[in-house]
Amino acid sequence: MTNIRISNLVKKYGESNAVNNVDIDIKNSELFILLGPSGCGKTTTLLCIAGLIKPEEGEIWFDEQIVTSAEKNYYERPQDRNVAMVFQDYAIYPHMTVFKNIAFPLEIKNMDKKEIEKLVHSTAKSLGIEELLDRKPKQLSGGQRQRVALARAIVREPNAFLMDEPLSNLDAKLRIFARAELKKLHRRLGITTIYVTHDQIEAMSLGDRIAILNKGEIEQIDKPQTIFDLPKNLFVAGFIGSPPMNLIDGSVKEENGTVYFTTKKINYKVPSEFSIVKELKGKEIVLGIRPEDIKLSKNESDNSIKATIEIIELTGREFEVHLKVEEERIIALIRNIENFKINDVVNLIFDEEKLHFFNKETGENTYYESRK
Ligand SMILES: Nc1ncnc2c1ncn2[C@@H]1O[C@H](COP(=O)(O)OP(=O)(O)OP(=O)(O)O)[C@@H](O)[C@H]1O
Ligand SMILES: [Mg+2]
Repeated sequence: MTNIRISNLVKKYGESNAVNNVDIDIKNSELFILLGPSGCGKTTTLLCIAGLIKPEEGEIWFDEQIVTSAEKNYYERPQDRNVAMVFQDYAIYPHMTVFKNIAFPLEIKNMDKKEIEKLVHSTAKSLGIEELLDRKPKQLSGGQRQRVALARAIVREPNAFLMDEPLSNLDAKLRIFARAELKKLHRRLGITTIYVTHDQIEAMSLGDRIAILNKGEIEQIDKPQTIFDLPKNLFVAGFIGSPPMNLIDGSVKEENGTVYFTTKKINYKVPSEFSIVKELKGKEIVLGIRPEDIKLSKNESDNSIKATIEIIELTGREFEVHLKVEEERIIALIRNIENFKINDVVNLIFDEEKLHFFNKETGENTYYESRK
């Protein structure tokens, strides 16, 4: 069990910062996710933690022990950090049997042969690959190979697991199973795990906490539900959720004591619990509402917004309704489409408890600090 602290990490490639001032405090036994678009610095961060690359600035601690300090030019060797990395292309040795593959890190440590035998069998059993121990990797499915790689990582009893998109080669169905297996495994072993992915569903379903990275910087660190319900800024709001949150540009107006969010066409009364958005008067603001938090109605009501249905798409269980309010495009997700068809003029009703107001200039969610 290891607490991993990263402070002020900076890694440069040429002029650009692949990782820029990253601070993360990962708790003992936590399953911590690094999530972000391609090129945002996830793998680079992981490689710094493993000791495989040297950052220009910052420190990394494993519990009370410093393992990386750019200032002191101190870098503990990767092999001394005792972390197990599992990569996307799980690099298992093709010429060795499954047994040999799993036993390999133990043989290097000169562990007693009987001990090795016992440990390999029990680990393989726990991952459901005991009957495959005599096979060679090419006789395995992708999912089985991945479990071999995991088994090899687990037998080492590392201080931490560092996993870089370990499931990305699996097909959708296998992936869901493998994810559940990983989660169980993590519960059982309680080993601190840092897991890199660019798949938000995976991040949401696996993580104790998620760090959202963008261009080498942390945008938000929170529990999955908080990331979804209370995005800290416009980047996270637009990144998480599929289809993503509707983000409507506008401004604030006050009339006879009532606060309105306005665009050219929309005049939306801001619910009283959001009244401090009036402090953003004169600034550009962005109203955020998730597609699932919009209802459609034939009837006009207080604070409903008129819109025209442009497209209706079936997405499995729900319908994705594309709407137009003047030049504004809005998407609503609804279950039942019976009453509506293309070109209908309908009334949009926003769930008032699910509104977000962002300061466009800073990108900040006005209510992040007070509602967290
Ligand atoms: N060895 C290198 N030399 C130069 N630039 C690099 C090197 N490794 C990474 N980079 C750059 O650093 C940035 C971060 O890369 P990184 O591999 O950490 O991204 P990532 O978040 O893991 O992306 P992906 O999801 O595509 O794997 C990218 O802009 C990348 O081009
Ligand atoms: Mg990567």
